[in-house]
Amino acid sequence: MKGIILAGGTGTRLHPMTSVTSKQLMPVYDKPLIYYPLTTLMLAGIREILIITTPRDQAAFQALLGDGNALGLSFSYLAQPTPGGIAQAYVLGSDFVAGHRSALILGDNLFHGDGLPERLRKVSGAACESGATVFAHQVADPERYGVVAFDAAGRARSIEEKPTRPRSNWAVTGLYLYDTQVVDIAADLTPSSRGELEISDINRIYLERGQLAVERLDRGVVWLDTGTPESLLEAAILVRTIEQRQGMKIGCPEEVAHQMGYIDDAALEAIASRMVGSDYGRYLARYLDTARFAQA
Ligand code: TTP
Repeated sequence: MKGIILAGGTGTRLHPMTSVTSKQLMPVYDKPLIYYPLTTLMLAGIREILIITTPRDQAAFQALLGDGNALGLSFSYLAQPTPGGIAQAYVLGSDFVAGHRSALILGDNLFHGDGLPERLRKVSGAACESGATVFAHQVADPERYGVVAFDAAGRARSIEEKPTRPRSNWAVTGLYLYDTQVVDIAADLTPSSRGELEISDINRIYLERGQLAVERLDRGVVWLDTGTPESLLEAAILVRTIEQRQGMKIGCPEEVAHQMGYIDDAALEAIASRMVGSDYGRYLARYLDTARFAQA
């Protein structure tokens, strides 16, 4: 399975912070925002990842993340000329995903929770060869999101983008898994009244074909999008609270790469030694010591 991180957009709600740089490069406590969706894909077992950015910010993402080799991954990059909608990821990324199943994650979405990696691996694994899987979470303000409503048996019944009168409080989160049909579906979309190719339209087509699975995330899983100063700060405080309490990081790609067996001890040691001046680098060194002790 291949992965796409959609990290373009205008970031209007974060101006002036995003006037000269990308929202997905903003810090969330101790690391850039994009590290969180990146580690989510990694935990799902995905290693080939396309990062879609604005033309302005592409060089900065490449400088930060490189070709992925240091993490045992493969990164490629594309620029979205203008923000034409989330579903445009599959128009731009059609060659990249051609013939493969894929996961799309929004670059400003943060997922964290017990059992989430196992759940992601299950739905991205061979058991889900066909159709689409999306993840829904209950929110207080569903009118801001794609909203999915269920029938009495718990099957998805409708999906509506930013409805004025939502039929449920289940928002579709920014993580979507598709089979190979998605490229053709995206190619046939027409822009909505707000001029965007809507991801909800793709999901609705899978729903109409009887091929949409909706995984409901419960309150044990945190899902945040970080589009406003307030939500960015809330995310930072949450990450700090968890990390300080547990002494373990969340959204740390180097640690995940090591845990998943993508890089060995020596590779992680090399990364950590380049960052000894920061708590982040010292954390990696400490993590490696503990992992070596456990292996001995
Ligand atoms: P949004 O938060 O809807 O848009 P934005 O990031 O441009 O912010 P604002 O509303 O403040 O102007 O986008 C959700 C995510 O999807 C975010 O990570 C940016 C990304 N995105 C793109 O990369 N391209 C697009 O065309 C759109 C619509 C979103």
